[in-house]
Amino acid sequence: MCGIIGIVGKEDVAERLLDGLKRLEYRGYDSAGIATVFDGAIERRRAEGKLGNLARELRDEPLPGTIGIAHTRWATHGAPTTANAHPHATREVALVHNGIIENFKQLREELIARGRHFDSQTDTEVVAHLVSERIEQGASPEEAVRDVLPRLHGAFALAILFRAHPDLLIGARLGSPLVVGYGDGETYLGSDALALAPLTQKIAYLEEGDWVVITRTSAQIFDRDNNPVERPVTVSGVSGAMIDKGNHRHFMAKEIYEQPVVVAQTLRSYLRRMENQVSLPDMDFDLGQVKRVTIVACGTSFYAGLVAKYWFEKFARVPVDIDVASEFRYRDPVLEPGGLALFISQSGETADTLAALRHAKAQSQIIAVVVNVPTSSMAREADLLLPTHAGPEIGVASTKAFTCQLAVLAALAANLARANGRLSAEEEAEIVWHLSEAPAAMNQALSHDAEIEAMAHLVAHARDVLYLGRGPDYPMALEGALKLKEISYIHAEGYAAGEMKHGPIALIDDNVPVIVIAPSGPLFEKTVSNMQEVQARGGKVVLISDAEGIAQAGEGCMATIEMPKVHPLIAPLVYAVPVQLLAYHVAVAKGTDVDQPRNLAKSVTVE
Ligand code: F6R
Repeated sequence: MCGIIGIVGKEDVAERLLDGLKRLEYRGYDSAGIATVFDGAIERRRAEGKLGNLARELRDEPLPGTIGIAHTRWATHGAPTTANAHPHATREVALVHNGIIENFKQLREELIARGRHFDSQTDTEVVAHLVSERIEQGASPEEAVRDVLPRLHGAFALAILFRAHPDLLIGARLGSPLVVGYGDGETYLGSDALALAPLTQKIAYLEEGDWVVITRTSAQIFDRDNNPVERPVTVSGVSGAMIDKGNHRHFMAKEIYEQPVVVAQTLRSYLRRMENQVSLPDMDFDLGQVKRVTIVACGTSFYAGLVAKYWFEKFARVPVDIDVASEFRYRDPVLEPGGLALFISQSGETADTLAALRHAKAQSQIIAVVVNVPTSSMAREADLLLPTHAGPEIGVASTKAFTCQLAVLAALAANLARANGRLSAEEEAEIVWHLSEAPAAMNQALSHDAEIEAMAHLVAHARDVLYLGRGPDYPMALEGALKLKEISYIHAEGYAAGEMKHGPIALIDDNVPVIVIAPSGPLFEKTVSNMQEVQARGGKVVLISDAEGIAQAGEGCMATIEMPKVHPLIAPLVYAVPVQLLAYHVAVAKGTDVDQPRNLAKSVTVE
């Protein structure tokens, strides 16, 4: 989603702002821009499309100035054109914005009635005019921003530049994250610590409603009631060097390959190998008293939650409700006080999930959060924080964050089961053993990469693809279909294998590849029957199973992908690998933009 960088610097900033924007590319965007103040005037360069276009603009017409703001825009209001690209500016101010100003229509009409002229269709431009109006009336930058912020409804992170004050920037946050970075004689604003990583590691996270005035050497933060406040300065763990593709062609490939290591890293926090026990961080409630779990997430994180539903109910016998976050609040769910509400998110900033979390909190739920960014809003609002240790995930399509989520959720399932008296010490030891085996099994799964690459053409020409799975492999079918459609733009659907005959089987012909995810085990025979129903109708099947499964049912399949034989508990972690690799190689074969697929954003901070 949109990204922000601001620098109050010692030297020219345009190059560094552009570099910072490159680090924000992974969030997804469709236009970009930079503004600086130089010689008593605000200067802007903006461009539609990729950053290369903006870089060309800057080459043709360099942008001097030691203070500036920059933005990557993911269009919400108004098409992704240059006119709609940020920064938006008047003569007096320029600003960049993440989020949505919900009451912009009313504000815009008001401003037009007062004679102001708009250059874009964005919601953001109203803020530039409102602040500008106050400046033109003689207000200081601080006064202007303080007066305007309460008028804005919705979600925003803002960075504002003032023509007549080439020594300060003002930032504000409500609903969208914003950080302050402290440098050596320079100060920065950024939409996340990653954006600022090459500039500084010293970061303060603004709280909801905060706004901040930064100069080269200071940052004065105010809360939503305009009281001066201190926010702790932390040393961010992300280094500038961490974010490269290594030997891989895409971040997504690198992240798929990192999985054995980051899953092992994550499991280390949740398994006590010596004692053969699973463990969670300290909590001030009794897990054994939890009578119902409500899981809420979006996209791939939702599918991790769906796998967890199978585990929680099977191992702990605790009933689980699960919702996509965008539906949760609005259906007004019945939540018994004291229930456990579990939110799963890579970014910890997804607007729908965050709003759902706050809704659940207001309904007296205990809030547990499985999250990859430990400084995110969700992490900070949790009663029980369950971090994944996947490291920064740059590819828009989630891979390593997903398998790390599964690792944490498996450990949580075992903890819940133990707390409920449903897990003997021997069973717990077995779970610890199986989970510890997962990274090695994922490595084995990765060794089939070349085979999967070689068969990608079987799928790359399809218009539609179906994925089938049963039990915890059903969410894997959903995840497989999501991965394929988001990066290769091929229409794909995941179905519970048994559900095929209730409708989707009508789609089967020899042009629709059907990917069947079926490790051998208790549900295998049933899935194979569904697979045979597909084959009987001319369907072309790719079977992903272990040697035993392939020996039993591989004949007649268009292709098979062999996975190691694993315990059903860790099968979703292992089978995620071929599903990701297949989507990846199909996308590469089609020549799509794998790391930044069209229309998608990494962290969806608008509803
Ligand atoms: C798919 C994908 C998205 C995210 C979803 C939730 O590959 O990445 O579906 O899973 O936008 O994002 P987080 O996990 O950051 O809340």
